[in-house]
Amino acid sequence: MQANIVVLPGDGIGPEITAVAVEVLKAVATRFGHDFSFSEHDIGGIAIDNHGEPLPATTLDACAKADAVLLGAVGGPKWSDPNAKVRPEQGLLAIRKALGLFANLRPVRPHPAALHASPIKPELLRDVDFIVVRELTGGIYFGDKTRDAQSASDLCRYTSAEIERVLRSAFRLAQQRRGKLTSVDKANVLETSRLWRDIAARIGREEFPDVELEHQLVDSMAMHLIAKPHAYDVIVTENMFGDILTDEASMLAGSLGLLPSASLGEEGKVGIYEPIHGSAPDIAGKGIANPYATLLSAAMLLRHSLGLEAEAATIEQAVARALDDGLFTADLAAQGQALSTRQAAQAVLDRLR
Ligand code: IPM
Ligand code: MN
Repeated sequence: MQANIVVLPGDGIGPEITAVAVEVLKAVATRFGHDFSFSEHDIGGIAIDNHGEPLPATTLDACAKADAVLLGAVGGPKWSDPNAKVRPEQGLLAIRKALGLFANLRPVRPHPAALHASPIKPELLRDVDFIVVRELTGGIYFGDKTRDAQSASDLCRYTSAEIERVLRSAFRLAQQRRGKLTSVDKANVLETSRLWRDIAARIGREEFPDVELEHQLVDSMAMHLIAKPHAYDVIVTENMFGDILTDEASMLAGSLGLLPSASLGEEGKVGIYEPIHGSAPDIAGKGIANPYATLLSAAMLLRHSLGLEAEAATIEQAVARALDDGLFTADLAAQGQALSTRQAAQAVLDRLR
């Protein structure tokens, strides 16, 4: 297969982790006889520095034409003045919106060898295997904003079409998995949530009677995720709830550095694959960031954008074997024997079979 992959390293640890992910993708291409070409473009803070804007048109064009996009992270203290007119995060939000990436898939499957790194009791983590579908291009992230000296506002708005399409993606995913969908909202307070819940109930009844649908309020969901994480299969929710719940869920896996994601739009459109962790400015440039979330994101890229299931599984199994062998970066290592980003990536390269 010939595929054109755009790499957006971004800021902070982004360049370090995407560099090793490209090495792993090249190794997989060689192993399986594929021809992947890679081109790098700026996004986020580096794009503000080089082009004066966080999402240059050249970057967006390249992504729109690509077969898939691998992204590192955006943001950092250099660009984080709250009064700044342009911010790196705007680039990320703009590319999600421009490419129509409304469904953000964030799988959570704690690895047995990394349970020691989770603050949650290991007996609660056994058999945890769920996936959060976060709505990614609507809600309070994208509503009108106002700010004056006395007040500020952010509008949370959803159309029924926006809610329907992400719910359908989540229902379909549940059908392919264990047939259970948990829809998370705040229907006791928010009008957008009441619309969300009505639509979820209707689509479930009319189109997916085979999927067991449950509704949860986001505050109690935050609790249940810790108390009984094994009870979930597919969880679907709106943009900001999904942002918050998935950082919480990453603690089940032991580290933010282990969670990949896929941002997908309509069938056949380009997808963006990125770790859910941020740019980690505190460790940027030190070569110690955990690359596993990015490698697992590269696996999702192979699976969802290129349809290369065996190749995706090869990367996932290699990461699993590296974890089994106790090959941890500093976020996971007990003490002393932490691997560098490069060593961890090499461990995965050595285990590709
Ligand atoms: C994420 C990040 C982004 C978000 C930030 C960087 C804008 O936290 O992808 O989860 O809030 O969506
Ligand atoms: Mn986030």
